[in-house]
Amino acid sequence: MITAFAPASVANLNCGFDSLGLALEQPGDKVSAIFNNDHIVRIVQITGDGGKLPLDAAANTGGAAVMALLKALGSKQGIDLQVHKNMPLGSGLGSSAASAVAAAVAANALLGSPFSKKQLFPFVLAGEAVASGSEHGDNVFPSLLGGIVLIRGYEPTDVVQLPVPQGLHIVVLHPNVEILTKDARNILPKQIPMKDGIIQGANLAGLVAGLYTNDFGLIGRSLHDVFAEPYRAPLIPYFDKVRQAAMYGGALGFGISGSGPSMFALCDSQIRAKQVAELMQKALHGKGIAFETYVSKINTTGAEIVANDKA
Ligand code: HSE
Repeated sequence: MITAFAPASVANLNCGFDSLGLALEQPGDKVSAIFNNDHIVRIVQITGDGGKLPLDAAANTGGAAVMALLKALGSKQGIDLQVHKNMPLGSGLGSSAASAVAAAVAANALLGSPFSKKQLFPFVLAGEAVASGSEHGDNVFPSLLGGIVLIRGYEPTDVVQLPVPQGLHIVVLHPNVEILTKDARNILPKQIPMKDGIIQGANLAGLVAGLYTNDFGLIGRSLHDVFAEPYRAPLIPYFDKVRQAAMYGGALGFGISGSGPSMFALCDSQIRAKQVAELMQKALHGKGIAFETYVSKINTTGAEIVANDKA
């Protein structure tokens, strides 16, 4: 049996809707893969999901990713998967992506690594599509590769790993309300005004330039979202209050993690990130909202094999 870990991820980073994401050190999901003799992909166990995720392999992000992988190989090999969820579902932390990635990485290793990480792209995208209804890669690619990832395009897939400035940390606060990516995408307008396209494009360029030049000021000034935040922020309890707290604490920038409800703050050091996390927590104190907070540096390793009992 081979077990892979795949980290949570923060997609969009405000100005990079569907095209930017980064990986956290923790939390993350683990998936174990083992051969079966029945020529099918089976989800034999899911833990940590409160019974919410489908055991039907084709409807499960991990199962769908492994089925796509086997199909590409033309293989009839059967594989059993055990999925261990270690993060909240529907949280904006790339939970569905982490399971798809961990499953693909574990199955690939079990099969003798016929694919490189980059060759796994279509399979993890297929897994993500099962959960969110669209093949966006801003969670799956950072979770797979680690670091801060730009998806320049999909036809063909063009993925750029961006530099991670020394000291960069992220705070993620997950309030316990569930927002499904599908729903959060459906409320967005299908078209945007030219002026918003210009603002978003300029900020995305600013953020990328800031990452290449270690310019924390430029990174902070670029962390704005005029595409999705105006529509999604009202779904998140006390979004403005938590933002105010993070910015008061010296965060570089603040926004919605993926499609929410998690909120993130980027910080220039671990010390600052811890201070910002405390202030964000205080902002929700006594409001009757349960939440978890994660403080993490950027995970530059991505998904990896954590146990191999094959030998
Ligand atoms: N880019 C996606 C969205 C991320 O914001 O809808 C969610 O997985």
